[in-house]
Amino acid sequence: MEHLQLRIKDIRQETTISKSYFIEEVNGRNIQYKAGQFLTLLVDLHGKEVRRSYSISSTPGVDDTIFFTIKRIENGELSRYLFDELKAGDIITSLPPTGRFTIDRPESELAVFISAGSGITPVFSLIKQLLYQFREVKVLLIYQNHNESESIFGKELLLLQQKFATRFTLKEIFSQPIDQNKRSQRLNNNLLERILLEQIKSSSVAFYLCGPEPFMRMAEFTLKVMKYRHEVIRRENFFASAPPPPFMTDHTPHRVTINYQNSRHELEVAYPQTILQVALHHKIHLPYSCRGGRCSTCTARCTSGKVKMSINDVLTPKDLQEGLILTCVAYPETDVELTYEMVEPEEGIQ
Ligand SMILES: Cc1cc2nc3c(=O)[nH]c(=O)nc-3n(C[C@H](O)[C@H](O)[C@H](O)COP(=O)(O)OP(=O)(O)OC[C@H]3O[C@@H](n4cnc5c(N)ncnc54)[C@H](O)[C@@H]3O)c2cc1C
Ligand code: FES
Repeated sequence: MEHLQLRIKDIRQETTISKSYFIEEVNGRNIQYKAGQFLTLLVDLHGKEVRRSYSISSTPGVDDTIFFTIKRIENGELSRYLFDELKAGDIITSLPPTGRFTIDRPESELAVFISAGSGITPVFSLIKQLLYQFREVKVLLIYQNHNESESIFGKELLLLQQKFATRFTLKEIFSQPIDQNKRSQRLNNNLLERILLEQIKSSSVAFYLCGPEPFMRMAEFTLKVMKYRHEVIRRENFFASAPPPPFMTDHTPHRVTINYQNSRHELEVAYPQTILQVALHHKIHLPYSCRGGRCSTCTARCTSGKVKMSINDVLTPKDLQEGLILTCVAYPETDVELTYEMVEPEEGIQ
C-alpha cells in the first residue's frame, strides 16, 4: 500500500486537549476518501514505528481541506507527542484513508448517531455527508461531553442545527455543564431509551455509535433491549487491545496464499499465530493499524478456504458473506487464499 506524505497546512485548537490538523498531500494530488474513514499515521518515535489511526472529520464535496482531530491522552504514546510537537509545515506519513464506518447509500429515513468525546470525529464527517448530500434523510445526534468547552465541534454542530433545522436534531448532554441553566446529565440506559422513544417516529432507522468502549456497550445494550436488530447498528471502535486467540484444537500449519500489490506470497501459518503476524514476520508489508480487530485497516478477501476470527467489531454480516476477513485476528482453519483490494471511493467524491 503506497504511503501518503502529508503536509500540515494549518492547526486549529478545538478544545484544551484536542486540535484539528488540516492537511494536503505534498505532491499536490487529491486525497481520495469517503466520509467516516480514517488515516493511519506512521510515526518514528525514538527509532520505533508507532501506528495510530485518526478519523477524518472533513467531508468530501463539503469541505475544501481534509482534516483530522487528535485528542491528547495523558500518558498516551503518540497522541501526546503529536499534540505537543506537530506544527504547520511538518510532513507526516500515513496509510491511505480506509475504514468501513461509511455510508455509501443512506440505509434508513433516520440516521441516529450516538457519540461521546473524541468519538465525534467520524460522526461529524458522516452527519455533514447526510445533511448536504442526501436531502431525504433526517439525522439525530446524541452527543455526551463533560461540559460545553470540551465539546469538539460543538459550535459547528449548533450551526448545522440552525442551517438544517427541519432535518437535524442535536441532543447535547453534559455531565457538568458550564451553563447553569442546563441540566447535568450522563447518558445511561434510561436516558438513552427515553430520548430514542421521544425522537424516533419512523421504523426506518439506522444507528451509528462511536465513543469510549463502556459508552458504546451501554448504547448497544439499550438498542438490543429496545429490540433493534444487530444489522441496523454500526460501530467505530477507537480503542483496541489484542484479543486472546480463540479456542482451536487444530494446531497444524495451513498454507496461506496472499495476493497483494501484484505479488503472490505463500506462507505457512499455524495456531496461535495470526495471518498478519506471520506475513509481517516474512517482511510482507500488509496494511494494519490497531491489530485488535477493531479498525478494519487489515481487511482482505478470503477467496478460498476458511479462517476463524477471535473478534470482529467492524465487518458487517454482508461483509462476512462476501468473504471479508480481518487478518490481524484471523487463524486459518484450512488452506486459504486472500486478495487485497483498494476501496474505491464513489464517483464524484474527491
Ligand atoms: C479507527 C480509529 C479511528 C480513530 N480516530 C481517532 C480520532 O479521530 N481522534 C483521536 O483522538 N483518536 C482516534 N483514535 C484513537 C487513536 O488511534 C489512538 O488510540 C489514541 O490517540 C491514543 O493513542 P496514544 O498512542 O496516545 O495512546 P496509547 O499509548 O496507545 O494508550 C495509552 C493509554 O490510554 C488509553 N487510551 C487510549 N485512548 C484513550 C482515550 N481516548 N481516552 C481514554 N483512554 C485512552 C489506552 O487504552 C492506554 O491505556 C482512533 C482509533 C481508531 C482505531
Ligand atoms: S489492524 Fe485493525 S482490525 Fe486488523
